[in-house]
Amino acid sequence: MQLKCNSNTTTTVTMKNAHAQQAFSAFHAHRPNSKLFTMRSRCTMRPHHAKVVHQQFPTLKKMNTIYPTPTAAAIAGSEGAGFPSTDRFDVLDIHHVEFWCADAASAAGRFSFGLGLPFAAQSVLTTGNTPHASYVLRSRTGSLAFLFSAPYARHCADAAAATVPSFSADTARRFTADYGLAVRALAVRVADAAEAFSASVDAGARPAFPPAELGHGFVMAEVELFGDVVLRFVSYPDGTDVNFIPGFEDAAASSGSPDFGLTRFDHIAGGVPDLASVASYVAGFTGFHEFSNFTGDKVGTAESALNGMVLSNNTDTVLLTILEPVHGTKRRSQVQTFLDHHGGPGVQHLAMASNDLVGTLREIRARSSVGGFELLPPPPPSYYDDVRRLAGDVLSEQQIKECQELGVLVDRDDHGGVVLQVFTKAAVDRPTLLLEFIQRIECVENQKEYQRGGYGGFAKGNVNHIFKSIEDYDKSFDTPAPAASYI
Ligand SMILES: [Fe+2]
Repeated sequence: MQLKCNSNTTTTVTMKNAHAQQAFSAFHAHRPNSKLFTMRSRCTMRPHHAKVVHQQFPTLKKMNTIYPTPTAAAIAGSEGAGFPSTDRFDVLDIHHVEFWCADAASAAGRFSFGLGLPFAAQSVLTTGNTPHASYVLRSRTGSLAFLFSAPYARHCADAAAATVPSFSADTARRFTADYGLAVRALAVRVADAAEAFSASVDAGARPAFPPAELGHGFVMAEVELFGDVVLRFVSYPDGTDVNFIPGFEDAAASSGSPDFGLTRFDHIAGGVPDLASVASYVAGFTGFHEFSNFTGDKVGTAESALNGMVLSNNTDTVLLTILEPVHGTKRRSQVQTFLDHHGGPGVQHLAMASNDLVGTLREIRARSSVGGFELLPPPPPSYYDDVRRLAGDVLSEQQIKECQELGVLVDRDDHGGVVLQVFTKAAVDRPTLLLEFIQRIECVENQKEYQRGGYGGFAKGNVNHIFKSIEDYDKSFDTPAPAASYI
């Protein structure tokens, strides 16, 4: 498979994995505008990337990379600064991720403590919400927001009083019984939730909840994403003074809680049995383009492997990774482990960005043994010799040592973008949901520092190390493969 990026860059990817080849062929066959998906992903450097300079990592050395200039052909069909324009509706950013729980206060408290995310808002009995207890955690330094919701007692609930109108206590109880603590909704802010819902359903999305007006100009709607996870559309006017959505009130005692510097969701990853069908379904109704893919022959060990694809909206503010297991290997793929223990398709990991990953990780690690989240073990020291060769012009020796101390993986894309990332062990009872912390280095546009979505790519070198680490972790709780099927 030859991936043509532009006149300066041609990347050849050999797919040895027959199933992956079949999966991606099937995906592209479903695409209505397949030429736009000819890996226009970040092997095409966009014009503003040429302005990238060192700033984000506090003492980084300036990069010396010379970036290729994209040709007109490379950005044909794009708008603005070389962005694709395939979205079926205007997508702004990830608004929040919702967990359904048995006890929302406990789950939110654990995530707040372990990740340094302040309680920001709540909708509970004392605010008039009788069907569900909901708590919002939100970063003070960015847009990262979690919503944790749990049903109250059936005989005390008035369904009409639900602040999140799509909340169904019976569905939530079944969901929690089936999946444990798990992600129910990926919520994206869109320009018009009713329009997004309508466009999605017209393009084949399975509706989950029709548009509802929440007051103050807020509208919410949902379609099925994969498994029992929904894609939630939220729209509202700029400059609103509503805290989260109407019906939520400021959380008590949030002012003194720490913030570890997590800023936003970098990407969200789902585990599914069949990548091609899910990617075709999601890309079909959203219009999202293929940002990147990785296949079993590149991501795996001698014992197991996975295939993956990253879908993205026009502006790369919503990156959705979809993973499937590769079968026929010596061990179960870690994606199969996820599917088995989760009980079907679902959100497999949540990647959160920090502008100071080392500082954030120090705080997270300090709470690992007292109820927080535990990081995966670091790679062997020899890994960091490779890092020196790979990114020694970007990271100082001190920074490489800090990465080694914290087990941070470092990689670089074809155009010099550097990505730092690290995973936790399972964040919940089951060996299912993982948390990822990530920093994409040196993105500056219009004098504004930011971590551009996907800048630095998905670090295929890291993907392999991560896969190996998680495979080793999987071995620590080896269980027989169940006979059940959930496809
Ligand atoms: Fe990831």
